[in-house]
Amino acid sequence: MNVRHGDVISPLIVHGTIRAPGDKSISHRALIFSTIAIGASRITDILESADVHATANALRALGARIPTLSSDFTVVGGGTDALHSPAEPLNCANSGTTTRLLAGLVAGLVGVTARFEGDASLSRRPMRRVTQPLTTMGARIVFEGARNHDGLPMRVTGAPLHALVWKSEHASAQIKGALLLAGLAAGVSVEVHEPVRSRDHSERMLLARGVALSVLADGVRLDAKQTMLSMDVHVPADPSSASFFAALAALATDGTLRLTDVCLNPTRTGAFDVLRRMGASVRIEDQRDVGGEHIGTVVVHPGTLVATRIAGEEIPRCIDELPLLACVAARAVGETIIADASELRVKESDRIRAVADNLRTIGVEVEEHAAGMRIVGGTHALVGRVVTHGDHRLAMAFGILGALPGNAIEIDDPDCVAVSYPNFWRDLARVSAPNTSGAGATNASALIIAIDGPAASGKSSTAQWVAQRIGVRHVDSGAFYRALTYLGVQSAVPSLEWTAEHLLLMSHRITQRMTDRSVLPLIDGAMVDEALRDSPVTQHVSLVAQMPKVRVWVNTQVRLAAERSDVVVDGRDIGTAVFPDAALKVFLIADPWERARRRLIQRLARSPSDGEIALETEALVLRDARDATQSAPARDAITIDTTTLTQEEQVERIVALAEATKGRIGSRD
Ligand code: S3P
Repeated sequence: MNVRHGDVISPLIVHGTIRAPGDKSISHRALIFSTIAIGASRITDILESADVHATANALRALGARIPTLSSDFTVVGGGTDALHSPAEPLNCANSGTTTRLLAGLVAGLVGVTARFEGDASLSRRPMRRVTQPLTTMGARIVFEGARNHDGLPMRVTGAPLHALVWKSEHASAQIKGALLLAGLAAGVSVEVHEPVRSRDHSERMLLARGVALSVLADGVRLDAKQTMLSMDVHVPADPSSASFFAALAALATDGTLRLTDVCLNPTRTGAFDVLRRMGASVRIEDQRDVGGEHIGTVVVHPGTLVATRIAGEEIPRCIDELPLLACVAARAVGETIIADASELRVKESDRIRAVADNLRTIGVEVEEHAAGMRIVGGTHALVGRVVTHGDHRLAMAFGILGALPGNAIEIDDPDCVAVSYPNFWRDLARVSAPNTSGAGATNASALIIAIDGPAASGKSSTAQWVAQRIGVRHVDSGAFYRALTYLGVQSAVPSLEWTAEHLLLMSHRITQRMTDRSVLPLIDGAMVDEALRDSPVTQHVSLVAQMPKVRVWVNTQVRLAAERSDVVVDGRDIGTAVFPDAALKVFLIADPWERARRRLIQRLARSPSDGEIALETEALVLRDARDATQSAPARDAITIDTTTLTQEEQVERIVALAEATKGRIGSRD
């Protein structure tokens, strides 16, 4: 799509259900473990992609009886004794998992020798991380490529292996899996320690097959001389593939995507956590356990996304999703940092360099670091041609950005998705057709920004500024409470006797006036702005605002205003009861002392003394307690602590969030 200035960009409204293809890690392991077990293992919903075909073909070449892959087939395993040297080299294509896991298996098969080959990308990837422990166990491994290159092609010759205790430098399930397979094939014990826990599908599958294995705090121990049972395997949907659509739903204008049957193994769900932390609504439903894996439906709904930091122990939990999360960060408010992710440099491509280069090409500000990157989010159109280096996850990550309204992104090699998700483009087209129904589009473009917070958190003045900066109207719900309180004060009835009914009988005298900048309450057709700030009104407004019927009335007034205009609204329970679907919800907080100080400066027009602030703080704390039930932040609100921020700074932050929200959903004005 070519977008010109002034073009009308239709919102992206996503709807539908996706069952992402089978989990890649589990699919490889299902084939390998079923081959070396004795007996029949039925495998359903395996991933039928290039990487898994590579494992199936290599196993067949080693003597395994694996039928053509389909959604339901059976492998009859004959144990490791049934395996032999392949007649041809094992072509591992693009698949690191095939190479490393099968290198471990072959290393433990006495007298079996196999040459491992791969495509250009795989041939560049480091293999010493597995060959070093395997040779320590006694296997013979020779790199047959350029000198000093620890990659494919390599020849692995199995031998009677020794037991091993290995401290891995990398958090890698491929290393762990390779060593477990070597131990199983050779009948020796293996203990692997890793710096951070990597995905644990091998452990789960082996335990389910009756193998004596202990999960350690930092790794795994396999006992010597294990026999493996055959077992049926249902392959759940791959969370790495599902997360592309979770990201699409998070970034969309509106709608919901349901991702069914997703593997929710906690070593794999980091991307869902990150998206949730950035502001998307990510819900898990229909959870169950199947074959040692936890499975469920992931329901994702858009939100205004804010930048985040992804680092440390979270990295292995979202390692394959980091290119995608970097693309999401390009659309979030603020600067996202990805750190501690040097492993990305040795994936199917150097994913730090490739993601940073491509983001830069399409117009994103990004800084490449040795072990990660810094991405500056924005809302402008992203346009350009992405070079994938044949890396499936890059193609899909940028494919998601390209599906967003206004962006025009060309992918140089879209077919490389065949490595893990052959039907990716078809699924993307199915759920992201631009919305053409007038009704949906109108609803989606109603811009409501809700600002809330405790008394004296500055929500009203901040909302006013934000509204002015982004060019929409401000509705101060407090002004409507004050207007009704004013009528109470003016009436002959003493405040102790006020009831909601008494006050609401006078409410017909309050009307709305829409100015360029705001929606205001008028009393008997006249502006009474000043009078609404008078101290008798201030004294009684909290009492009036406690009355449930009055709250219903004010909420109706505010909703009426929002029906006619894009608005920034501030007030209690605005983001929870009044506009639960507001496009952006901000909850301002600040220390009571600071709030008291600000309120006194406003009231006294001079610097207050510490004594005065202390007294006011006490009053505010009491008021907070009284208001507590009405003032809880909405679950999807973005909380901003303004204690150390100037008024300008807090306005700036909210304006940035508001601009991003406007960019996401469009606006009527
Ligand atoms: C995988 C492990 C991870 C992951 C890869 C699949 C596996 O790699 O990135 O896509 O199935 O064992 P590392 O083991 O190199 O971390």
